[in-house]
Amino acid sequence: MDLERFVADMPKAELHVHLEGTLERDLLIRLAERNGVDVPLPEGGFTDLTSFLAQYYPAMRALVTEQDFFDLAWGYLERAAAQRVRHAELFFDPQAHTGRGVPFPTVVAGYRRAIVRAERELGVHADLILCFLRDLSAEHAMSTLMEALPYRDWIVGVGLDSDERDNPPQKFAAVFARARAEGFLLTMHCDIDQPGSIENIRTALTEIEVDRVDHGTNVVEAPDLVDLLRERGIGLTCCPISNGFVTDDMKATEIASLLRSGVRVTVASDDPAYFGGYVAENLVALTRAAGLTPDELVQLQRNAFAVSWLAPFRRDAFL
Ligand code: HPA
Ligand code: ZN
Repeated sequence: MDLERFVADMPKAELHVHLEGTLERDLLIRLAERNGVDVPLPEGGFTDLTSFLAQYYPAMRALVTEQDFFDLAWGYLERAAAQRVRHAELFFDPQAHTGRGVPFPTVVAGYRRAIVRAERELGVHADLILCFLRDLSAEHAMSTLMEALPYRDWIVGVGLDSDERDNPPQKFAAVFARARAEGFLLTMHCDIDQPGSIENIRTALTEIEVDRVDHGTNVVEAPDLVDLLRERGIGLTCCPISNGFVTDDMKATEIASLLRSGVRVTVASDDPAYFGGYVAENLVALTRAAGLTPDELVQLQRNAFAVSWLAPFRRDAFL
C-alpha cells in the first residue's frame, strides 16, 4: 500500500489544532515586519511542554490586528484543505492576546472571517474552541468566558491548555460549569506524562464531565477509566508528533492500544508549525510506528467525525 497516498485521499476531521500553533515562520516574519514589532523567532529544541510554551507565547506578539488573525487562520485552512480536511475544530487562546492589549473582538473577528470564507471558497468547515490558559487564575478564565458570550454562535466549545503542572481541572470547575450552562461543549488538555495525570483525567471525566479529552493517552494506566471512556463514547484527540517533542516518545503503542480496545481515538496535529507535521503527517507517523492497518486508519477518521462537534446533519454525512 502507498501509505502517503492512502492517507492523502481520506476525508479528514481535525479536532486538536491550536491556531496560534499554526504560525509558520514565514508568516511570523511577515506579520512582525508589518506591525513593526520585534519578535523572537522560535528556535525549536523543545524537550518538554514548558520549554515549548516558552517559545510559543513570545512568538504570538507578531499577531496584532484583525487582519493578522485572519491571515493566520486562512493559512491553516488552506493547508487543511490541501490535506482533504473537511472539518476542523480550532483552539484559540484569547488570554494570550488580551493579556498584551489586543481586544477579544479583534481576535475572534479575524478568525471568524477566515472560517466563513474557507467554507465558501475551500470547502472546509471549521468551528472555534476557546481555550482558557490554566496557569492563569480561574477568575481571569471566568471573565474571558463572559467576554465570549456575545460570540456564542461562533464558538462551539471551551477547552483548557497551557501548563498543567499545579493547575488541575478542579481549579476551573466553576468556569466549566458556567460554560456548560451557557451552551458550550467541554474539552480539556490532559497532557502527556504530567504529574497527577491519571487523577486529572479522572476529575475531567467524573467531576467536570467533559465531552472530549485532548491527549489523555496516560489513561492506558487506569483500566477503569478506559472502560468509562468506552462506555460514554468519549473521544481522545491524540497528537503523536507533538508527543515525540514534549516527551521524546510518540506514544504510538499506547494510542494504538486504546484504538484497538474500542476507545474513540482520533489523531491531530496540535501545534504543526512548531512540531513540523499537519494531520496527514501525524497519521503517517503513527501508522509507521504502530503498524496500523488500513481499516484502523479509516477507523481513526470515523472516530474523528463521530466525536466531532458538528451538527448531526453534517456529521452523519461522513459516517
Ligand atoms: N498542551 C498544553 N498547552 C498547549 C498545547 C499543548 O499540547 N499546545 C498549545 N498549548
Ligand atoms: Zn494541544
